[in-house]
Amino acid sequence: MDNKIFASLKSIGAYAPKKILSNKDLESMVDTSDEWIVQRTGIKERRIASDDELTSDLGVMASKLAIKRAGLKTRDIDAVICATLTPDFLCMPATACIIASKLGIKNILAFDVSAACSGFIYILYLAKSLIESGVHKNILIVGAEKLSSVLDYTDRGTCILFGDGAGAAIVGVTTDKREAILDIQISADGDYAHLLMTPRSRATHPKDEKTLEYLQMAGNEVFKVAVKTLTSDVIEILNKNNIKSSQVNHFIPHQANLRIINAVREKLDFPIEKTVLTVHKYGNTSAASIPMAINEAYEDNKIKKGDLLLLDAFGGGFTWGSSLIYFGGE
Ligand code: ACO
Repeated sequence: MDNKIFASLKSIGAYAPKKILSNKDLESMVDTSDEWIVQRTGIKERRIASDDELTSDLGVMASKLAIKRAGLKTRDIDAVICATLTPDFLCMPATACIIASKLGIKNILAFDVSAACSGFIYILYLAKSLIESGVHKNILIVGAEKLSSVLDYTDRGTCILFGDGAGAAIVGVTTDKREAILDIQISADGDYAHLLMTPRSRATHPKDEKTLEYLQMAGNEVFKVAVKTLTSDVIEILNKNNIKSSQVNHFIPHQANLRIINAVREKLDFPIEKTVLTVHKYGNTSAASIPMAINEAYEDNKIKKGDLLLLDAFGGGFTWGSSLIYFGGE
């Protein structure tokens, strides 16, 4: 131990809406089959929020759990950062402000980050920087999505992939490196923006066509770049930190497609038992995907304090990022 301050992932929480949309349900909505979806994506079902359940509501449920598990009160939180591509409002007030208000937290920093499926790693990066600068003590980070609100349920290429949910965490202070966030790297390349988009804002296109009301994706092209980038990103962060893949206790990739996860896992030699998988239950929940997966492993008593987690995400923008974390929660 020394006196240097490190950021630590102190707790995790998640929430999934009650309503299940199964592949069988989708068979009656678009020309698809359970067999095709399972074979091509690994997804069996996903959760759908009710009309009166907003992204902020999902975020609040996950946050309450994360705050409680960190042994904190809401008054201890000194910043709220939310990653989402489906905010309650376009583009203000920030969903983070609404989450803070619903939790009874005020007069602190609260803002949103738009980094699609890499959103959670982006806000983890910001929280780490704010903690290690000595300015903040307990930051609530939330990845929350109501993706059903931007999906075209007549487009079989996209509507089968995504679901709703939220994950939250507390990033706090430690002086013990064995429970610290060891490293985070994030990046982006806007040249690929056109391959994965949600509706344009009115500022860009005042009289948009109907087809641009929904999420658009060139799935095949995204797939190829995703596998390549997720793999090279992990190799880079492991090499940079002189860590072998065998030292990682839990590989927690973005849950977009089981084929993408398996391709990356096999290239990096991660056994399936060390890989956290939730894609079959929740589909792709974008910014909520990684914290929901951490929470799943935590609730299954698989993650213990000091375990080394490797996070790896890729999403619209394109954005991507990875992180090595010694879990700091109880
Ligand atoms: N059911 C049945 N058939 C389908 C469906 C469906 N739901 N969707 C597409 N098909 C058909 C296509 O029309 C095509 O038919 P054709 O050969 O007659 O033209 C055939 O299946 C193959 O289509 P592909 O698009 O080539 O299928 P692919 O194997 O690439 O799988 C998928 C598509 C699942 C979308 C895959 O490309 C994928 O997962 N892409 C990456 C998504 C991703 O990683 N996103 C991450 C970021 S998301 C974010 O940031 C919000």
